[in-house]
Amino acid sequence: MGRHFLGLYLLIVLTLAVVSWGQDKILQTYSGPETRDDKPMAVALFALANQLHGLPAEGWKDFVAGVARKTGVEVELFATKDIVGRETLGKLGRGEVAYMQASAGDSWALQRLDADYVLAVRSFEPATQRGPLEWFLTMLFYAAIALVLMTWIWPLTRDLRVLEQAAARFGNRNWSFDAVIKPHSQIYPLAQTFRRMAARIDGLIASHKDMSNAVSHEIRTPLSRMRFEIELAQQAADLSDVRNSLSHIKADIAAINDLVTATLGYAILERADVSLNIGAHDFTTLIPAIAESVRCDARPDILINTHVQSDADAVSCDIHLLETVLKNLLHNAIRYARHEISVTFEVHAGVNRLLVDDDGPGIPEQDRRRVFESFVQLDRTAGRKTGFGLGLAIVKRAIEWHGGEVAISRSPLGGARFCASWPAP
Ligand SMILES: Nc1ncnc2c1ncn2[C@@H]1O[C@H](COP(=O)(O)OP(=O)(O)OP(=O)(O)O)[C@@H](O)[C@H]1O
Ligand SMILES: [Mg+2]
Repeated sequence: MGRHFLGLYLLIVLTLAVVSWGQDKILQTYSGPETRDDKPMAVALFALANQLHGLPAEGWKDFVAGVARKTGVEVELFATKDIVGRETLGKLGRGEVAYMQASAGDSWALQRLDADYVLAVRSFEPATQRGPLEWFLTMLFYAAIALVLMTWIWPLTRDLRVLEQAAARFGNRNWSFDAVIKPHSQIYPLAQTFRRMAARIDGLIASHKDMSNAVSHEIRTPLSRMRFEIELAQQAADLSDVRNSLSHIKADIAAINDLVTATLGYAILERADVSLNIGAHDFTTLIPAIAESVRCDARPDILINTHVQSDADAVSCDIHLLETVLKNLLHNAIRYARHEISVTFEVHAGVNRLLVDDDGPGIPEQDRRRVFESFVQLDRTAGRKTGFGLGLAIVKRAIEWHGGEVAISRSPLGGARFCASWPAP
């Protein structure tokens, strides 16, 4: 704070000092002594000289002394021979008023009386020297600048220090950004950008941690099963037992392969630079086709109703990602629905909305945020384990890449409703 303040303060004070000094110099150069208003002085001198001319020369000194006493102005008679300077003498000779420097800041105004005498009146030039009041006011002026600067810089440096400390803590692997910067602070937008960046890094680190934990856990189970099957095969007496073990091993390899594929699919979407392949797609045919293919593959007994707005024939999206979104939502719905699923697509107020409803058990309110995290499965312990808990994490990321969001609510069918919405251009 001290360094910033002093630097800025010195800069402003020096600039002001240089500017006002330069201004004085320029004014002095372009407004010489000729601009002095000497007409009143000329009138006074003329009147005084006129009066003196009406008196005998011997009485001049007394008269002049009397005038000086009465008026308090220094008036004197000078002998012409004491005056030096050609220009001054020339002016006096022509009967004009001439000026002669007396001491710093004042001068004598001179008017010739006759060949021997010159009438002199001391005239004070406007003071160029600073008095104590001027010094005081100047100091007050610079103190006011200091005060204004302080009130501006103090909160700024305080907030910057808070931000710096928070950034340092963040850098020290305490992955939370806890700087308290008020909205009216000058660096509030900077702090907000920082906060968003920190949240993103935090999220990435957390998801990578989850991912490696889950992957190692998910891989360890089939691996130990495979080791067990190999041991069984080694001790097997006949070929059919060996074949049996081999087919179990094959299933475990397929499970590991699925996990790697799903994890890679999610990891790609988690990257900072996914490039979308946006195009215009006809949802009126695509949505029923995808729904039908998923239904046939998984549960032909279930009823899937699709309601697509009739003019949704050029919906802008990355169709590869949107197909993944719809398939993941449908796979979940099919897993939990009792009889019926409904898919709705509509464009309303510049927003594309894709709704997937089912008549299953629904998702409890307290879990509606959590299920979008990677590797989160609500009914893991219930013995229904299929998949890895990546489907909804992928849905969320894919919609976020479209600038939208996904929300869960209770469906009119009684189960869960997933609503993915993203802006229509
Ligand atoms: N329609 C639904 N009804 C009830 N619960 C659901 C529904 N969809 C998802 N869930 C819950 O959310 C969890 C996470 O779903 P997600 O799709 O992310 O993972 P998954 O389906 O278990 O596995 P994956 O999709 O990776 O194969 C599910 O395990 C389930 O508990
Ligand atoms: Mg799923």
